[in-house]
Amino acid sequence: MFQNSIIKLFNIEKPIIQAGMIWASGWRLASAVSNAGGLGIIGSGSMYPHVLQEHLQKCKAATNKPFGVNVPLLYPDIDKHIQIIIDEKVPIVFTSAGNPSTFTSVLKKHGITVVHVVSSSKFALKAQQAGCDAVVAEGFEAGGHNGREETTSFVLIPAVCEAVNIPVIAAGGIASGRQMLAAMILGASGVQIGSRFVASQEASSHINFKNAVLESKEGDTILALKKLTPVRLLKNEFYKEVELAEQNCVSKTELENLLGRGRAKKGMFEGNLEEGELEIGQVSSLIKKILPAEVIVNEIWNEYL
Ligand SMILES: Cc1cc2nc3c(=O)[nH]c(=O)nc-3n(C[C@H](O)[C@H](O)[C@H](O)COP(=O)(O)O)c2cc1C
Repeated sequence: MFQNSIIKLFNIEKPIIQAGMIWASGWRLASAVSNAGGLGIIGSGSMYPHVLQEHLQKCKAATNKPFGVNVPLLYPDIDKHIQIIIDEKVPIVFTSAGNPSTFTSVLKKHGITVVHVVSSSKFALKAQQAGCDAVVAEGFEAGGHNGREETTSFVLIPAVCEAVNIPVIAAGGIASGRQMLAAMILGASGVQIGSRFVASQEASSHINFKNAVLESKEGDTILALKKLTPVRLLKNEFYKEVELAEQNCVSKTELENLLGRGRAKKGMFEGNLEEGELEIGQVSSLIKKILPAEVIVNEIWNEYL
């Protein structure tokens, strides 16, 4: 049996982690990935507290394997989410988009394994100092919210591996076993994969969005909204509006109003491909099929081996 630090840390069979993703990774996707021997993660960032609780209970009913929850620290309702995670005895939490020192010790007091997502070795060191058990090094290619530094996975993975002595999980631009192998050779002990799982049957993303991912070509994504919270998305009408606003140097508040909370839901969950925000990584141009999550995990793993 394959063994390494990430497999031991999470008590899983394959060091393939399905990323927590707003409007995409609910209990169906997370439990399917965990049942396939990887680690499924519920994306709590788009969920009200009672919705998160329902997903946790359904996930526990659908798998007896470990699974986790992603908590983006910039979202509202964080305190309520953390309490529900503790009450429901979730074994693993991935925090992102915020300061890891805020909640790591609270979670660890309850025996929860904590991983923080970083985009630089400086933040990786902070996560280690905060007591995190591992870090995700997420490169510039990745879909969703991302660092301003624009460091690509090929540079970030070895840099973070050198900076910390806790296990490193690579993210950004990984959708195949060959890409996973490259990340592991660069020093990672596991991979976190987002975009490829958007194009899975179990993802809660709208079918229009899944099809847009399959149709996307190289150069169709961009890291936008750098003044606010940088996010990699598919270029569409919404992106053009954002770009124009940024060119016109509008204020942060005006940008926030343009974005609103509903844009991500409109695009990724309701399938409005022009007016909605469509978060996806550069690797979408290599994704060709919508497949069951179990097939995705096994395809990547068998190619890696
Ligand atoms: C649709 C979508 C939604 C995402 N939502 C979140 C999120 O809520 N929290 C988070 O930490 N990262 C989020 N991400 C980033 C992923 O967790 C992951 O790190 C990234 O997708 C990895 O890069 P890849 O897309 O190249 O696989 C999201 C990514 C996508 C594609």
